[in-house]
Amino acid sequence: MAEFSIRPASSSDGTFLADMVVEAANWRTGNPRPRPTVLADPVYRGYIAGWQRPADAGIVALDADERPIGAAWYRLFAEPDRAYGFVASGVPELIIGVRPLWRAQGIGRALIRGLTDAARSAGFARLTLSVEHGNFAHLLYRSEGFIVVASGDGRDTMVRSLA
Ligand SMILES: CC(C)(COP(=O)(O)OP(=O)(O)OC[C@H]1O[C@@H](n2cnc3c(N)ncnc32)[C@H](O)[C@@H]1OP(=O)(O)O)[C@@H](O)C(=O)NCCC(=O)NCCS
Repeated sequence: MAEFSIRPASSSDGTFLADMVVEAANWRTGNPRPRPTVLADPVYRGYIAGWQRPADAGIVALDADERPIGAAWYRLFAEPDRAYGFVASGVPELIIGVRPLWRAQGIGRALIRGLTDAARSAGFARLTLSVEHGNFAHLLYRSEGFIVVASGDGRDTMVRSLA
């Protein structure tokens, strides 16, 4: 198991969260899209633009030298076309990424659990996310209580109740 710690995300984490958006967009091995290409996509850019807004919250995983190695955060969206996992304006969407060398060591699960606790403490009743078909992360999300509520365009929308 990797040695890591977690802390709440702060307003100075925007650049690292953008790195994690790029990781999430490039989950398939081979032929990764360059960072500027990913962040030119209005949906991907919308996951971090203007970080940190008042309703945003996140968790950052750190290595032993306190360098960021992964993050999960949530953000509210008001309109369906602004986010892949939109279900309703009061349901924040989870975004997650872990640096490649640190994957499959329990960090992603720890981040999801930390973020779930944060969302519950903030008074949210549900969390949503979007995952592309074929991404093993689907199994991780299911094992953390997310269920598929919609499917289309090669993606599933998964929602977890925080009750
Ligand atoms: C998805 C991601 C955030 C998960 O984080 P992680 O730290 O690798 O996940 P964990 O180590 O906590 O693993 C969670 C579970 O997934 C399994 N798993 C991890 N990597 C796996 C892989 N490559 N293939 C299959 N299963 C895998 C683990 O075995 C673990 O299950 P277990 O607890 O029953 O053993 C991370 O792998 C990542 O950033 N991937 C690329 C970006 C991405 O896909 N983001 C999500 C977009 S929706």
